[in-house]
Amino acid sequence: MKLAVTGAGGLLGSALFALVKGHEVYSLYDQHAPTSGIPIRLDLRNKNQVAETLERLEPDAIVHTAALTDVDRCERDRELAKAINCDATRAIAKSARNLGAYLVYVSTDYVFDGKSGSYNEEDIPSPVNFYGHTKLMGEQAVKELLSDYLIARTSVIYGSTPSSGKVNFALWLLDSLSAGKTVKVAANQLVSPTLNTNLAEMIIECLERRVKGILHLSGASRVSRLEFALELCRIWSLNPSLINPVDMSKMNWYAPRPRDSSLDVTKASSILVKKPASIKDSLCRLKEELDSSKRG
Ligand SMILES: NC(=O)c1ccc[n+]([C@@H]2O[C@H](COP(=O)([O-])OP(=O)(O)OC[C@H]3O[C@@H](n4cnc5c(N)ncnc54)[C@H](OP(=O)(O)O)[C@@H]3O)[C@@H](O)[C@H]2O)c1
Repeated sequence: MKLAVTGAGGLLGSALFALVKGHEVYSLYDQHAPTSGIPIRLDLRNKNQVAETLERLEPDAIVHTAALTDVDRCERDRELAKAINCDATRAIAKSARNLGAYLVYVSTDYVFDGKSGSYNEEDIPSPVNFYGHTKLMGEQAVKELLSDYLIARTSVIYGSTPSSGKVNFALWLLDSLSAGKTVKVAANQLVSPTLNTNLAEMIIECLERRVKGILHLSGASRVSRLEFALELCRIWSLNPSLINPVDMSKMNWYAPRPRDSSLDVTKASSILVKKPASIKDSLCRLKEELDSSKRG
């Protein structure tokens, strides 16, 4: 299969490249060139270039992971957030339709308002911030233009390597706690943390089986950021007293966050061979990945 992956140097994109096998893969990037696949620079804000590039490559499938993922920046720079998360997604969906290509659009738990948590695929989205709003508009464009698509919603992605120039929640905790620094962690924000390699292998299975519709693909555990940090301390034998639990209202975030955006992964767990993993299994896998990258 000929695949085009946007956001190829990002946290999810880099894991997809590490795990995908036996396909011809084009890696689309903007600022951070990926180290695998056939790299092609494409600024998704340029709609004509999006159409021209995809229609020249003629992929059988497109995995659209690229987004403006900085939630506070989306709130401040709404025009940019709309251009990348919504308009570019619409342009990609149009090209997919013209090419007859299957599209996987990676979306977010932040499409939900967080009032109830454990959201399943039938629950009605109602975002509380502009990032969630733009990602939901992206979902709507995909549904409107295509029938051969998967909307894969995920939650707090983490992984073993800094990607697209930034560290993730798990690496930030590990770096800070190993250096003996205290960290401020929200005690009452509930999420479904997702290891990038677990997510990537589930997406690859969906791609190869052409799974359609909406699917929640996240880690299988509903935890607070505090519980995540404490589990990480247990597995790495780090000092939990360095963790300073705070109410999420004291986090000084610019954009509001949903209080409980955890995802129900029952559907993915029942239909996929590669299953959403528990927090403990995912953190143990992360440890193995970090240990093997140090050795190798
Ligand atoms: N990270 C999370 O916790 C989380 C949670 C829920 C859902 N998601 C969703 O999961 C997907 C993957 O997230 P991620 O964490 O892997 O993202 P990430 O590491 O923040 O990477 C974002 C990617 O988007 C690309 N991008 C941004 N602006 C672009 C532009 N104008 N043109 C082309 N590419 C552009 C970046 O490319 P360059 O680096 O080359 O500029 C980068 O590869 C996103 O769709 C996100 O909404 C993420």
